[in-house]
Amino acid sequence: RIRSGRRVPGWASFPEVIKELKRACPPPKKQGLTVFFTGLSGAGKSTLAKILYSRFLELGDRPVTLLDGDIVRQNLSRELNFSKEHRDINVRRIGFVASEITKNRGIAICAPIAPYENTRSEIRSLIETYGGFVEVHVSTPIEECEKRDRKGMYAKARAGLIKGFTGIDDPYEIPGSPEIRIDTSALTPNEAVKEVMLFLGEKGYI
Ligand code: PPS
Repeated sequence: RIRSGRRVPGWASFPEVIKELKRACPPPKKQGLTVFFTGLSGAGKSTLAKILYSRFLELGDRPVTLLDGDIVRQNLSRELNFSKEHRDINVRRIGFVASEITKNRGIAICAPIAPYENTRSEIRSLIETYGGFVEVHVSTPIEECEKRDRKGMYAKARAGLIKGFTGIDDPYEIPGSPEIRIDTSALTPNEAVKEVMLFLGEKGYI
């Protein structure tokens, strides 16, 4: 409206503009969100992702989907191996699914190794066009991951029975600027998830 109160033909009124802006840029709590855990095998990604998943289910305000590395490998990426090319395809698939969930204002929790910085940042750019993206580097040192060796894979990799194992004879590029970095060697899983929840709360995502 112009100062006289008359409406300029074809222009939206001020309240209409505000309404449109709110619709286009909802507060973080109303947006979709991807929480992307990355880290070595055995670092604790899946454990933290599962606990976070149940916290979001308890909150119950947005639909939540867990895209764990192993689950995705079984269901979406069964034909892929662990070469750089195939890892990138796998991680991009996860990113695409997460972007669709985020676009529709749901919550996606991802937990692949995702060893390459470029691929992670590509996914970040894609998802940030639709909503929030929070990268959580589960930075548990390899010595601790290897000590845990829940699946016995480090032992096999050391024995040369698995080739190209991340952290042994295949790279893991440490995230340069994740939103959160958590070393689970000195924390219980619940304490680690509390740190994630606190961050999400501070940023207005929950
Ligand atoms: S990636 O790099 O993001 O595509 O990896 P991801 O899909 O998350 O799969 C990681 C799990 O596969 C098992 N595995 C291997 N990991 C690393 N390197 C090699 N070569 C490999 N071969 C099999 C391993 O158990 C990983 O499980 P997590 O849950 O991460 O411990």
